[in-house]
Amino acid sequence: MNYPDPTLLVRCAQRRGRLAAQMARTGGGVAIVPTAPEVMRNRDSDYPYRHDSYFYYLSGFSEPQSVLVLVVEPDGSSHSTLFCRAKDPEREIWDGIRFGPDAAREVFGFDAARPVAELDAEVPPLLADRAGVWWPFAVHTGFETRVEQWLAAVRGQSRAGHRAPAAQYDLCALLDEMRLFKDDFELSVIRRAAAISAAGHRRAMQASGRGCRQPPSGGLREYHLEAELLHAFRAGGAQAPAYGSIVAAGANACILHYRADSAPVTPDQLVLIDAACELDGYASDITRTFPADGRFYGPQRTLYAIVLEAQEAALAAARAGNRFHEPHDAALRVLAQGLLDTGLVARDTAPDVDAVIATGAYRRFYMHRTSHWMGMDVHDCGDYAEPGEPAQTQPDGTTRPAARILRPGMVMTIEPGLYIRAAADVPAAFHDIGIRIEDDVLIGENRCEVLTAMAPKTIAEIEDWMQAG
Ligand code: GLY
Ligand code: MN
Ligand code: MN
Repeated sequence: MNYPDPTLLVRCAQRRGRLAAQMARTGGGVAIVPTAPEVMRNRDSDYPYRHDSYFYYLSGFSEPQSVLVLVVEPDGSSHSTLFCRAKDPEREIWDGIRFGPDAAREVFGFDAARPVAELDAEVPPLLADRAGVWWPFAVHTGFETRVEQWLAAVRGQSRAGHRAPAAQYDLCALLDEMRLFKDDFELSVIRRAAAISAAGHRRAMQASGRGCRQPPSGGLREYHLEAELLHAFRAGGAQAPAYGSIVAAGANACILHYRADSAPVTPDQLVLIDAACELDGYASDITRTFPADGRFYGPQRTLYAIVLEAQEAALAAARAGNRFHEPHDAALRVLAQGLLDTGLVARDTAPDVDAVIATGAYRRFYMHRTSHWMGMDVHDCGDYAEPGEPAQTQPDGTTRPAARILRPGMVMTIEPGLYIRAAADVPAAFHDIGIRIEDDVLIGENRCEVLTAMAPKTIAEIEDWMQAG
C-alpha cells in the first residue's frame, strides 16, 4: 500500500477538473475509466501488475480492479467516485494491504468511493438522463461490452421515464491531448527516471570494459550487462524497466527489437543497449552504443560519428515551432550524407543526399523513425497530426496529415541509428555494426532540454568513462 505524493493528488484533481470542463462543452455526462486487468502468467503467478495510464493520470491510484467514474454537470462541476476492492482481511494476508473504499476516498480525495463489486448496480443510475458517456475506446478488450450492459440497464428503465445517454465519446481523445503536455510534477518524475536510467547505462558500460579485461567464467554475456542495468534501476528506486531491455552485442544490434539474451560479448564488438526504467508511473527511454572493451575501432568510429552527428542535427531541430518530422528530416540528411561518404550507398544509384532520401536508398540501413512521444507510456499517447489543420497535398498528389507543431511541455525521444547487416554488396569492414543513440528531450521555446544527458554519448566521453571503470 503506497501513500501517494500530495502534489500528485493535487494534479489529479486538477486534471479531473480540466476533463470535466471539456465534457461540459457537449452537455456533460459520465466518464468511466477502468484501470488495467491483472494478467495471469502461468497457474498461480501473475505478470507484475501495472495500472492503466489513463486511470492513473486522473486518480493517482494504483491498485488493480479499480474504476473511476466522473459525473459532470452541464455547468462543468463534477463528482468523482472511485470503485475499488473492498477491505478483506483474509485476502490481504496473501496479497497485501489494500486501501478499501473509505481510506481511498480520504487519502486520495475522491468525492465518494464504493466497493468495486457494486459497479454494475451503481453505474446505470449514474448514466440515466445524462447527455453523453465517455470511456477509453479500444483500450481494454471487453470493456465495450460492459458499457453496453450498463446502457441496456438504463434503457430497461425507459418506462419509468429515464433516458440513456444519446452519445458515446472516446475519452482517449481528450486525455491524449492533456497527457501530451507534461506538467511540472510529471517533469520532475521523468527527470528522476532519466537520471536512474543514465546511471544504469554508465554502470553497464564500465561492467562491459571490466568484463572484457577479466571475463567471468563462461565469458562475458549480454545478460551480465542487463543485470547491471536492472541493479541500477532498482537501486535507484525505480519499480521496473519501462520496456523490455535490449542488450545487443555485435550483429544482434541490427535486430531492432532484440531482447537482452545470452550471446557472448567480445572485445571487438559494439554493444547496443536500449533500456530504461519506469519510476512512479513514468517512463524513460535511453539507447547508447559503445565498444565492448572501451575503444572504438576504425569502421565503428566512422559510423558512430555519423549517427552522433545525425542525433545532434535532430536535437537542434527539436524546438517549439518546428514540426514533429523536422528532427527526423534533419537526422536523415546527415545519415544520407554518411551513407554516401562511406560507400554504403553507391553514388551511381543515388548521387546526392536528396536522391538517397527520394529513392529510399537509406531505408536498408535506417528503417525506423527518429522520435516518438514519451511520458507515462514509453511510446506515449498524443496526436502526431496538428489538430484542426487540414491534410496537405504532396507533390505526388497524395495527401498527408499536417505534422504536429512542437510546443513547450512536450517530451519526445531523438533516436537515429544505422544498422549494417552483412551482405555481398556492403563493404565487409561495416558488416554487422548496429548503432542507435537515443535521448529523451523536453521541448522548449528556442531549444530542447536533453533529459538523459548524464549517459556518456560522445566518443571521448564513452572512452574516458569506460577507461575510468
Ligand atoms: N525502446 C523503445 C524505443 O526506443 O522506442
Ligand atoms: Mn524510443
Ligand atoms: Mn528506446
